[in-house]
Amino acid sequence: MKVGVIMGGVSSEREVSLMTGKEIVGRLDPSKYEVLPIDVAKREELIDRVRGIDFALLALHGAFGEDGTVQGVLETMGIPYSGSGVLSSSLCMDKNLTKRLLRAEGVITADWVYLDRSMFADGSWEAQVAGLAYPLFVKPNAGGSSIGVQRVDRQEALRAALAEAFRWDASVVVEFMVTGQEITCPILDGELLPVLGIRSNGAEWFDYEAKYSDGGAEERPITLPAEVESRVWEAALACYRLLQCRVYARVDMILQDGVPYVLEVNTLPGMTANSLLPRSAAAAGMSYGELLDRIIELSLA
Ligand code: DAL
Ligand code: MG
Repeated sequence: MKVGVIMGGVSSEREVSLMTGKEIVGRLDPSKYEVLPIDVAKREELIDRVRGIDFALLALHGAFGEDGTVQGVLETMGIPYSGSGVLSSSLCMDKNLTKRLLRAEGVITADWVYLDRSMFADGSWEAQVAGLAYPLFVKPNAGGSSIGVQRVDRQEALRAALAEAFRWDASVVVEFMVTGQEITCPILDGELLPVLGIRSNGAEWFDYEAKYSDGGAEERPITLPAEVESRVWEAALACYRLLQCRVYARVDMILQDGVPYVLEVNTLPGMTANSLLPRSAAAAGMSYGELLDRIIELSLA
């Protein structure tokens, strides 16, 4: 079977995607697959580059890749691909819509305000954020890997933080800060893999540096009180089902006083050497190569 590992792309997470892609290419079993690394540096290249492959293993992150667009092209071309479908990918990439759906279903997520560029340009954003308690997190609405994300401690700093976030995206979420233990819940085929607790070393929060530099953070299986654990599992699986994820996903949360607040759902979670999903799978006794075999097998089912 000719497996194209699609990586790179054009989003702000291009470098992360190349790390994910390189790792995947090195770990696919060559006795099982004919592996074809495909670095897509321009959108228009995709169609020609994927022609002739039997399966697209998506190592893309962010816009044009994790957001349903590439999935739509592959559907149209009749090429099977890894992970979630078009709708789920688009929804999970949009923090605002994800949070709206979660809240409608009673899954806990921090309060937030959604702003678009026109509101920033005409000044109407100020009324939206007036009276919010600080600190706040400002996040590009459809970003990943914490790129463009900033913690804002005082009102005077908000305008500059928004200007920075709007460099990355046409819409932004301003989120209340949840304080506590950051955790992540990888899911494979609708079942939870070991939940990992994250402790950033040096960094104030789990930012880009903490995520991808060696020793930037410690991510280990975490033991939680039974009652908290069941809340975490319930919230993670509710996200997976509600957002119609398929094959695998990773739900990120912060535990505040034993209550899990969902941050976001990643449909193409990072698979770099430092990434959380392969670490969690390893804790469950599944090697990186076995994890890839499962993802391919489940995606083709
Ligand atoms: N967006 C990055 C790749 C992650 O969630 O792992
Ligand atoms: Mg993400």
